[in-house]
Amino acid sequence: MRTIDTLGDLNGKTVFVRSDFNVPLDSNKNITDDGRIRAALPTINKLLDAGAKVVVAAHLGRPKGEVDPEFSLAPVVGRLSELLGKEVKLAADTVGEDAHALVSKMEAGEVVLLENVRFGKRETSKDDAEREALAKEYASLADVFVSDGFGVVHRKQASVYDIAKELPSAAGELVFKEIDSLSKATNNPERPYTVVLGGSKVSDKLGVIDNLIEKADRLLIGGGMAYTFLKAQGYEVGSSLLEEDQVETAKSYIDKAKANGVDLLLPVDNVTAKEFKADAPASVYDSESMPSDEMGLDIGPKSAELYAKTIAESKTIVWNGPMGVFEFEAFSAGTRAVAQAMQDAEGFTIVGGGDSAAAVRTLGFDESKFNHISTGGGASLEYLEGKVLPGISVLED
Ligand code: 3PG
Repeated sequence: MRTIDTLGDLNGKTVFVRSDFNVPLDSNKNITDDGRIRAALPTINKLLDAGAKVVVAAHLGRPKGEVDPEFSLAPVVGRLSELLGKEVKLAADTVGEDAHALVSKMEAGEVVLLENVRFGKRETSKDDAEREALAKEYASLADVFVSDGFGVVHRKQASVYDIAKELPSAAGELVFKEIDSLSKATNNPERPYTVVLGGSKVSDKLGVIDNLIEKADRLLIGGGMAYTFLKAQGYEVGSSLLEEDQVETAKSYIDKAKANGVDLLLPVDNVTAKEFKADAPASVYDSESMPSDEMGLDIGPKSAELYAKTIAESKTIVWNGPMGVFEFEAFSAGTRAVAQAMQDAEGFTIVGGGDSAAAVRTLGFDESKFNHISTGGGASLEYLEGKVLPGISVLED
């Protein structure tokens, strides 16, 4: 993959950087986790230090190809300015008059953030020609392109993929670090190689489970998706989240794991409640004796201990998806136990993006104690599935 250093002298050049600033916001538009903005800083700072003018493009949410103030990058620009220690101007558009006016006035060492690239239909169009035309317009703003929005490299979109063909292009520091770390799990991982998978739905993780059953030594399942697996094993799961239409698939994974000699571990006990509420009274039941009116909201203490022990004995550990509803204190112990075991592990630890990365931060764990916390949700999963990511392949020599 081409790196920034291959782009030559950037002094006085305008660099178009694609970042991923798709950060969670509360109802007052306050950023609740700025991890993705912080992760973008090494690239932006490196380019500024090289004397470049930096034009950053990013998306927020899925605004359906129309200008929608709800999805403006306005909440991001202030935080980005604070973290960079310099004022970043927000253009009112992406390739319109305002963007051109602001970029044409830029001096070396300045940063302009373009408005949400998804405020137009062409960015995400399935029509190659439409995306290419937009990519040419993006390219007219800059001399070179740096791809640094790891969270979006699995998308064949104009500011991720097509622009890389229009300008000399390279991977930014974040994209490089993500691939470098994630590839430690996909290329000859040190064994035992353990993957901890959680989150609510089996259907979101089909590809990754399919692939990992061939590669991992142990698969630990938690979160809402565990109940579809428990059902497939013949247990009653009460009113827990259940994807009836995936029970057969879950069964086939259990069989495939057995055939491949992969240890597939399911929760042996669960923290349950009668309602999905933060203050619902919690109980603990073994998986074989779940009452019909209780729903599992976290893995239980015996499972947490078993999973933590398995993690401690592993040399490579990948974790994607919380073990329970960690946002509710009473149902956060399983996710906490996995995060703690990852933090204490001697093996190489990778936390997949999305909810598990958010869990590490909101539960107060020290990020520096993990070898890698990915900023990509879907992107890291697709990479682990072994898929070709368009935003990466386009940067390869
Ligand atoms: C993410 O949040 O995973 C990335 O920003 C990609 O967003 P998308 O799924 O809307 O393309």
